[in-house]
Amino acid sequence: MAGHVAVTGGSSGIGAAVVDRLRERGHPVTVWDLEPPARADVGHDLLDVTDADAVATALSEAEARGGAVRHLVASHGIRGAFVPALDLDVAGVRRVLDVHVVGTLLVASALTRRLVELGDTDGASVVTLASTTAYRGWSHQSDYGVAKAAVRQLTENLAVEWARLGIRVNAVAPGHTLTPMVRDMVDHGYDVGPVEARTPLGRLCTPEEMAREIVHLLLDASFVTGVCLPVDGGWTAVGK
Ligand SMILES: NC(=O)c1ccc[n+]([C@@H]2O[C@H](COP(=O)([O-])OP(=O)(O)OC[C@H]3O[C@@H](n4cnc5c(N)ncnc54)[C@H](O)[C@@H]3O)[C@@H](O)[C@H]2O)c1
Repeated sequence: MAGHVAVTGGSSGIGAAVVDRLRERGHPVTVWDLEPPARADVGHDLLDVTDADAVATALSEAEARGGAVRHLVASHGIRGAFVPALDLDVAGVRRVLDVHVVGTLLVASALTRRLVELGDTDGASVVTLASTTAYRGWSHQSDYGVAKAAVRQLTENLAVEWARLGIRVNAVAPGHTLTPMVRDMVDHGYDVGPVEARTPLGRLCTPEEMAREIVHLLLDASFVTGVCLPVDGGWTAVGK
């Protein structure tokens, strides 16, 4: 039987596309998000992933609804302030780190702890969301880019710790993908033209393309753990 999958951030953008793809493949899916999913027939719990007690409650409710959660896609996220480091607001930086890094750790750990209790870890898997900003130095990314570099590192650490349980943990590092998060930046004056021009494949990614790579790492791969796969049209491969 297809395993129960939880998708944080599953109400929007990349997470919502992952939910659609998983449902096409017959998986029970639970959305954990601050906002309800657009589709009323998807099981969900409204959740702030930085709240450890709420995460534990949501996990119990999801299990009661669809059986033990065996897989996780951690696709929640907020954008950074996109300002020079000298202009960053400290409270905002803390929130970006909390949501991306602590939230991912809390949810992945809650799921794994429960599977250990059930003696049902073998074959479980996690995919986290890093970013091309997790690689090298970027202007205006000292909040978001640093959080994503930490998610990338966290992914490697969890992969190494949980391999003995038979749990794989991988990340994708999306390039710019046309979701509400990027549309919001465009609405605030961000120009994606130079990004498209620098990307070897010459365009932005769609949420559906990103979801395909995420679901492959989550369910179809078997000897892949601890990787961070750039899904960026060749952005990180460019040498000039
Ligand atoms: N879109 C891109 O170009 C891009 C590029 C690189 C990385 N990413 C990452 O991919 C992931 C998905 O991004 P997206 O573009 O689909 O964004 P999005 O804004 O469309 O969706 C993010 C979802 O996360 C939810 N969320 C935010 N904070 C939360 C919290 N504390 N608890 C629970 N849910 C919360 C939001 O309500 C929203 O539904 C994020 O981690 C983002 O940083 C996106």
